[in-house]
Amino acid sequence: MNVDLYERIWMWIAAAIVVLFLAFVGVSTFAQGIHPPSHVETIEPTKVFEDPRFSRIGTPTELPDGTIEVQVAAIMFAFVPNEIRVPPGRRIRFRMTSADVTHGFMIAGTNANTMIVPGYISQFTTVFEQPGDFLLVCHEFCGNGHHAMHGRVIVDSAAAVVKASGPSHQEAH
Ligand code: CUA
Repeated sequence: MNVDLYERIWMWIAAAIVVLFLAFVGVSTFAQGIHPPSHVETIEPTKVFEDPRFSRIGTPTELPDGTIEVQVAAIMFAFVPNEIRVPPGRRIRFRMTSADVTHGFMIAGTNANTMIVPGYISQFTTVFEQPGDFLLVCHEFCGNGHHAMHGRVIVDSAAAVVKASGPSHQEAH
């Protein structure tokens, strides 16, 4: 088959671009660990307050690895609890779920930002380096009272933390 020289050059360029893109995807995924949120854990939205994984709402709990777990339930139109106190300089793992509709969870002025979707547990871990008083807002429209759905996150070295007696619920699942 006779393929014109210029045609052949462009075919090689196109093939090289595909290989380059695949290489980028491979490096970012495996070498840099860049990936979309992958924590998939389901929960029955109508039974959030009976679920053992949310038995420590309002009680920041230190896990065996030193991470402090904070459990939050989102309901129309409040966060439970609505005031969260955590110490600075520690790994804080937020575990959140909704008892009704989709809500948002954003701690203003920080990179803490996620959606809270009924049926699922949202989770992320962050560190607040400095003490402070942050506004917590719901940034997903959830109904008539959406604008009133906010709370506070207070980063304070005197924040009370209890020690977990067993493995974290997350590890147990
Ligand atoms: Cu909850 Cu908007």
